[in-house]
Amino acid sequence: MHNFSSIAVIGAGQMGCGIAQSIAAAGIEVKLSDATPDLAQQGLARIHLRLLGQVEKHKLQPEEADHIVANITPVPSLESIHNCDLVIEAASEDLALKLELFRKLDQYAKPEALLASNTSSLSITTIAAATRRPQNVIGMHFFNPVPVMELVEVIRGLATSDITQTRILRLSEALGKKPVCSVDKAGFVVNRILLPMLNEACFLLDEGVASATDIDSAMQLGCAHPMGPLALADFIGLDTCLAIMEVLQKELGEVKYRPAPLLRRYVAAGWLGKKTGRGFFDYND
Ligand code: 3HC
Repeated sequence: MHNFSSIAVIGAGQMGCGIAQSIAAAGIEVKLSDATPDLAQQGLARIHLRLLGQVEKHKLQPEEADHIVANITPVPSLESIHNCDLVIEAASEDLALKLELFRKLDQYAKPEALLASNTSSLSITTIAAATRRPQNVIGMHFFNPVPVMELVEVIRGLATSDITQTRILRLSEALGKKPVCSVDKAGFVVNRILLPMLNEACFLLDEGVASATDIDSAMQLGCAHPMGPLALADFIGLDTCLAIMEVLQKELGEVKYRPAPLLRRYVAAGWLGKKTGRGFFDYND
């Protein structure tokens, strides 16, 4: 038993919404928070729309969809998390922002609550040190689209207790996920392998080795990847991809992690991928 009856999810973007939906589908109450009450409301509306799509495809009963939605309450501010047993932070990949959030979460969450970060590459030890309960802080890294992807990386910081890790492993299993433990080293397992591959695809495109469509077709047809690297980078968000490459480069200090200049240019242009309608591919129609 994991003993979590109420979980707060901080951040109602694509990861936060996916996490909230997966937890609610497991019958656990979720409080969904974002920088403004409107953003949290909009997050719930997007979850609802996706579930209705599942109902239309006869993959979900209407009452199941209603039940999942009823388990999620958008909350107006962080103060509303005081009754939660666990808080999962899924904000942008920005260390300063996460440190500030964890200081606040430590202040508002009840003393015995666990605090988890969905960070894709930042140090759990550093994030935990912003709180007075580093033994209760852990990494819980989900994959996009969260309701579909089975993996959760569970990352212990230096001070994370055994009981915290055990409870998070049990919760991951209760959500229908397969947890894999990683030590607290930049990028953990998946992003340390995946992001350099996506970054390399950007170098190939910039060097004119092949077109974006052909780079993606090559990896789909030649390696049986469900999406090509450039479409996957668009799907993850090019700003997130750049932020992860910057952490890998800074923390691991090797030239092989240098972000591709083309990736930087796209982010500078505001072409962030699917979420802005344009990245390596166009999503406007
Ligand atoms: N949210 C929720 N569910 C979604 C979704 C979304 N954004 N997008 C697709 N799905 C669901 C669909 O509803 C469908 O469910 P169903 O089978 O119950 O109907 C299922 O996924 C398959 O979707 P589709 O049939 O529409 O499309 P595909 O068969 O092409 O699959 C995909 C879509 C699952 C996204 C597949 O292309 C895939 O697996 N891509 C690779 C994804 C991946 O590698 N993710 C990891 C990214 S790395 C990461 O997240 C870490 C971070 O730190 C960067």
